[in-house]
Amino acid sequence: MLVLGIESSCDETAAAVVRDGREILSSVISSQIELHKPFGGVVPELASREHLEKIEPIVEQALEQASVSLKDIEAIAVTQGPGLVGSLLVGVCYAKALAFGLDIPFIGVNHIEGHVFSVAFENPPIRFPALALIVSGGHTNIFFIPEAGLYKVVSRTRDDAAGEAFDKVAKMLGLDYPGGPVVEKLAKEGDASKAKFPVAKISDGRTDFSFSGLKTAVARYIRENDIKPVAEGDEAPSQQIKDLCAGFQATVVKSLVGTMEKLAVELEPKTLIVAGGVACNKALQEAAQRTADKLNLPVYFPSKHLSTDNAAMIAAAGNFHLERGERADLRMTADVSMRLQNLENEDAELKRRKVRYRL
Ligand code: KG4
Ligand code: ZN
Repeated sequence: MLVLGIESSCDETAAAVVRDGREILSSVISSQIELHKPFGGVVPELASREHLEKIEPIVEQALEQASVSLKDIEAIAVTQGPGLVGSLLVGVCYAKALAFGLDIPFIGVNHIEGHVFSVAFENPPIRFPALALIVSGGHTNIFFIPEAGLYKVVSRTRDDAAGEAFDKVAKMLGLDYPGGPVVEKLAKEGDASKAKFPVAKISDGRTDFSFSGLKTAVARYIRENDIKPVAEGDEAPSQQIKDLCAGFQATVVKSLVGTMEKLAVELEPKTLIVAGGVACNKALQEAAQRTADKLNLPVYFPSKHLSTDNAAMIAAAGNFHLERGERADLRMTADVSMRLQNLENEDAELKRRKVRYRL
């Protein structure tokens, strides 16, 4: 099945043509990074206006690069949520109108499920159960996935997402937006042992994440060590800033991978997945690989262009649901806080699999 994927949940307008959920014929991404850079974060109003301008040319480009025309497209998959309402609506309305005009099926996709499917292109088929760490600017969750399409959140962030913490720390240090890639680059030249931070412990003993305390600890470190943020015209960030980046990154990685390892020991998955914008981070990938090797499990990452927001992953997730006969109708609309969890603790699926839950 030839699916057109459309993604506009945050600050990327993206379209992709994907065959049978595994073969990318085209994947076009128009990033708004430059537009939002002066503000150090995404400005929702600017984002939706830009999506409106870009969506049509991006879809046309995706069709052209795939050497197909609209009449070849058999179904449309669009991000329904979570995300910014104005941004989501642009994609959703466009997809609905296009599907209606072409008289083909369409489906709303959960953006986070899209990130899970981002590993479907470059890796062997996923063996279930799988454990997926989805870590981006908006989300930080670990999902237990007993079989394709079934999700149980086994860890979530209590406050900031990990990518958000990278972005905020970068902002405090006067570094560019988005912070993740810049902090990673500086961390390579830094010494983490010079700026140590504790990994947050959740008082009720759950395997959840918390990054806002780390952000505060970094702010205190900056103040106490009198670190000057990078200013325009500065030659290069100081060694102190590099050490701080290294220490901060090491703490985030330890928190993410440590929790994933704990849950993997408990839940005995057959595959580990690490996806989302922060999955580009090499230190995170290396730590996850070490854990996977230790547990004798495969770990799948998407390559860089599939880690950050894209429409190929939305098409792949949509393809999965469409093949199961699921369809949306014209009443479908954006769902800003759409959840990805269709298994409860008491769910028969989990009981049948004797998943040993502590939750
Ligand atoms: O998945 P994504 O494109 O958008 C959301 O759905 O949020 O993720 C963007 C996030 C940003 O917070 C960015 O700073 C972070 O991913 N990021 C990274 C790296 N590259 C992007 N974080 C750490 N290291 C990186 N190399
Ligand atoms: Zn995302």
